[in-house]
Amino acid sequence: MKRSKIAGIGHYVPEKRVTNHDLVKLMDTSDEWIQERTGIVERRYAEKHKETTSTMGTKAARIAMERAGVTNDDIDFIIFATLSPDYYFPGCGVLTQRELGIKGIGALDIRNQCSGFVYGLSVADQFIKSGMYKTILLIGAEYHSCGLDYTTRGRNVSVIFGDGAGAVVLKATENENEGVLSTHLHADGTDAEKLMYENPGCHGGVHKKEDKLYDFDDDEPEFGGIFTTKKMMSNKSYAPYMEGPAVFKFAVKKFPEVIMEALTSNGMTTEDLDMLIPHQANLRISQFVQSMLKIPDEKVYNNIQKYGNTTAASIPIALCEAWEAGKVKDGDLVCLAAFGSGFTWASALLRW
Ligand code: UT7
Repeated sequence: MKRSKIAGIGHYVPEKRVTNHDLVKLMDTSDEWIQERTGIVERRYAEKHKETTSTMGTKAARIAMERAGVTNDDIDFIIFATLSPDYYFPGCGVLTQRELGIKGIGALDIRNQCSGFVYGLSVADQFIKSGMYKTILLIGAEYHSCGLDYTTRGRNVSVIFGDGAGAVVLKATENENEGVLSTHLHADGTDAEKLMYENPGCHGGVHKKEDKLYDFDDDEPEFGGIFTTKKMMSNKSYAPYMEGPAVFKFAVKKFPEVIMEALTSNGMTTEDLDMLIPHQANLRISQFVQSMLKIPDEKVYNNIQKYGNTTAASIPIALCEAWEAGKVKDGDLVCLAAFGSGFTWASALLRW
């Protein structure tokens, strides 16, 4: 049976480092609070007006393609996962396709936030297994810093997120001893609004639990006038919103479940695992999951200390760094696990 394998991997993070001390100048927070609650020391921010989600994604993609030994002509399909696209539409997939100079192939955008890369990997894996495509470029990238609330009101969210991109080239292989063994995707929309980017949007207040549409203008026209409003601008409801403790609780339950699902469905245990790459949501979440599953330190890769939470980019950036450092080697059993807004959660088990 055909399998898909990661033939090349690359990542890109912008040069600008923003430390916790830099954020202290903008809001009521502290280096101690951020490090103690999240493990984050610094994050990278894209260069305004010069970089975007798609340009960072393209840089990571070029590295992955070079390492996979493929050219534009070899790529059959592009999948781009992000929650911070350059445009509301069209998606970053076509922008990356244009930037790379590839014409005519399909480009799909994935909107599954922190689980986006693993969802994308699953989609790519099915296309390759079915024989539809042989070589797929999968990218996860984010430009969070363009839209955060840098006042004290937004501090629980803004201190966490950072910018960056990661990419892989997936290729078909007939070798049963390598590649993606399985992927596992889940979602539960019950708490969709607990971690969200509410505005601008077309929701028109329809999903609000309370009946007060406080983001909408009193002089609203008969048609339209709900996507962006003066009230959204004045009350800053265009920045991401998160009920941190609720998200934390759900994450520490779902991460272990989905990791074990990947292992048990392949007849394996945590003992067989060589490397766990958890989505970099919060170092405390990764440590909690690690201790619940009794996985030793050398078998978990974390880099949130340097980059913050880069959402769809966090897994490919971490996987790339782990591979570059020689911590992921040929034949290793690697588990990728993600959790995020939606809520969505997912895992993938790979033989490197
Ligand atoms: O990647 C997608 C998934 N996302 C996650 O998994 C994130 C999950 N959640 C978390 O990581 C944590 O909930 C946070 C790191 C976001 C927050 O940590 P927490 O320990 O849950 O803090 P909290 O929200 O319960 O807030 C505790 C206190 C509050 O003050 P009071 O009400 O006790 O006076 C907050 O206002 O900490 C305050 N606070 C801050 N203080 C200093 C919140 N953010 C900050 C801040 N600096 N940046």
